[in-house]
Amino acid sequence: MPKRILVTSALPYANGPIHLGHLAGAYLPADLYTRFQRLKGSDIIHICGSDEHGVPITIAAEREGVTPQEIVDRYHEANKKVFERFGISFDYYGRTSSETHKKTSQDFFLKLHEQGVFSKKSQEQLYDEQAGMFLPDRYVKGTCPHCGHPEAYGDQCEKCGTSLSPTDLIDPVSAITGNKPVIKTTEHWFIPLGDFQQRLEKWIDSKQDWKANVLGQCKSWLDGGLGDRAVTRDLTWGVPVPLPEAEGKVLYVWFDAPIGYISATKEWAEEKGNPDEWKTWWQDDDTSLVHFIGKDNIVFHCIMFPAMLMQHGDFVVPDNVPANEFLNLEGRKLSTSKGWAVWLHEYLDLFDADLLRYVLGTTLPETKDSDFSWKDFQNRINSELADIIGNFVFRTLSFTERFFDGSVPKLSNPTETDLAALAEIGQQKKKIEDAYNAFRFREAIAETMNLARIGNRYFTETEPWKSRKENPEACGNTLYVCIQISAALSVLFQPVLPGKMSTLRSQLGIPDTLLWDDVSNNLIPTGQLVKQGEILFEKIEDETVEEEVQKLKDRAGSADTTTKQYEPLKKQTDFGQFAGIDLRAGIITKAEKMKKSKKLIKVEVDLGFEKRTILSGIAEFFRAEEVVGRSVVVVANLAPKKMMGIESNGMILMGEDTDGNLHFVETDAEPGSTVV
Ligand code: 2FM
Ligand code: ZN
Repeated sequence: MPKRILVTSALPYANGPIHLGHLAGAYLPADLYTRFQRLKGSDIIHICGSDEHGVPITIAAEREGVTPQEIVDRYHEANKKVFERFGISFDYYGRTSSETHKKTSQDFFLKLHEQGVFSKKSQEQLYDEQAGMFLPDRYVKGTCPHCGHPEAYGDQCEKCGTSLSPTDLIDPVSAITGNKPVIKTTEHWFIPLGDFQQRLEKWIDSKQDWKANVLGQCKSWLDGGLGDRAVTRDLTWGVPVPLPEAEGKVLYVWFDAPIGYISATKEWAEEKGNPDEWKTWWQDDDTSLVHFIGKDNIVFHCIMFPAMLMQHGDFVVPDNVPANEFLNLEGRKLSTSKGWAVWLHEYLDLFDADLLRYVLGTTLPETKDSDFSWKDFQNRINSELADIIGNFVFRTLSFTERFFDGSVPKLSNPTETDLAALAEIGQQKKKIEDAYNAFRFREAIAETMNLARIGNRYFTETEPWKSRKENPEACGNTLYVCIQISAALSVLFQPVLPGKMSTLRSQLGIPDTLLWDDVSNNLIPTGQLVKQGEILFEKIEDETVEEEVQKLKDRAGSADTTTKQYEPLKKQTDFGQFAGIDLRAGIITKAEKMKKSKKLIKVEVDLGFEKRTILSGIAEFFRAEEVVGRSVVVVANLAPKKMMGIESNGMILMGEDTDGNLHFVETDAEPGSTVV
């Protein structure tokens, strides 16, 4: 057990409001984990803040015709506030425009510079003559050399996910003036990540308990070989490079942003009146550093930042990076520019934070992309929060109030059934705890709800409405047990439903200060007064969620969602023909982009009984590193086909949506299972 846990969640760019995708990626899992560990009595802090540098900020400013400072001031305050309203309990929420951050990141750069780590190289870069500036990253757009997407950015093609340099783009244009840029030479400082390759490989190899999606991406980056990465940019917005010869240059945002975790911890310690305390959190080996992020940030937190930390030498390196995949919305990729997003501030104006914490918590994209839909939101609230836990505590408390004057009855001569129900408290507590410790939050939440399910079933089975007259002692036992389960739930559900569980605790007359290990099967003594109080979870009406879906569609432009062109159905076939196709479940274990092909990725698929090499035409939609670990369905008896000198042995089934995007067809069946 580490002495202390330092949790960070990705610093969101202060260039727009927070939406559900942000929450599901990093902030909600980080908060669930932190709240659970606090209840366990762990020494833990949760650090976050606004990422206020980089091209995403300046482009937002240019789009609105205001200064970058105005943009970051606006969104820093707005995002800080909305996180608070949602119950994300940061210990500190900093910002990378602070003086402390400027000094911390400049000192970091200087230390590496003095160690002689960086190489300074001349580079040909795109330059906008009218705007009088170089065009790094998203300041330039053009055609992706890999997939032909005409709107690729200078740092990445959002269609195929390939990481790019501005000069890779075909027919580049300036994002500021729309002009064709010229090539001009400039100088930059590079970190030679290749020099860290072996150390990083050894380190990643020692992390067998990391999530498969994270390890898959790391291995794929490492297998591809690490190269030099520029850590400076020709921009005016950012942390100035602290060297006299670097006039007009700033640190690359991905160099300074992760250092933001350190600067924010310094500010937290300062504010606490113990300015040196940050050192214990960053420099003592007894710290477990855990970064919560979305999958697009994996390379920076598992390769680049650890390399920087290793080289610097004064800091701990991450212990775990439980990155999540992406959240889709109503079956479509979330897109802020297309208006396909649910903004947190708008949600909170209408609904309670805990409802969304629960629903998102049960749908977190922990191992693969997941989907949020308003219908599912309604179902989970109505049939889980209201019908299971809400119903259970309501019937327990109202029965006690009506028939026992609100006083907890005594347990006398309990039956096997009573004792078994009480014993479930400890058993569920252990399962929930194990799941939280392993970053399996969906499972933790499901097991917590299972305890309420157990309570509900027990209440129904023991029929206190009958035993009240026939056997008052048995009736008292039922209520005693149900009150103990309710009390346990009020603590075990606290990480997910902090507001509602606080209300429940006040109904039960128990303090908010109870800890996880206070949970037992006799948390509330006989004779204590409980009261029914307000209903914890009201049901959501159909119209309410229908309105939300409509709002979404209106914003995204109804044409976009209603005029879909579906493929016409193929001619009818008979069952015999269909049954001749041998479909099997598999897992992708390796993936590599075919260098000379726009479309093909070479994958190795584990079919349980053997491993197959398959060439799959998915490169325009997925990066090789992100498909490792995916469950797939394979046409396993397809005749082998040779492409680009490699024999492909089968085909991976994909769904193609009406926008032409590909999606994996998945199954939870183990590799080798037949798909029928
Ligand atoms: O992807 C993003 O939103 C980045 N602003 C995350 C930065 S995380 C950290 F390194 F600061
Ligand atoms: Zn592309």
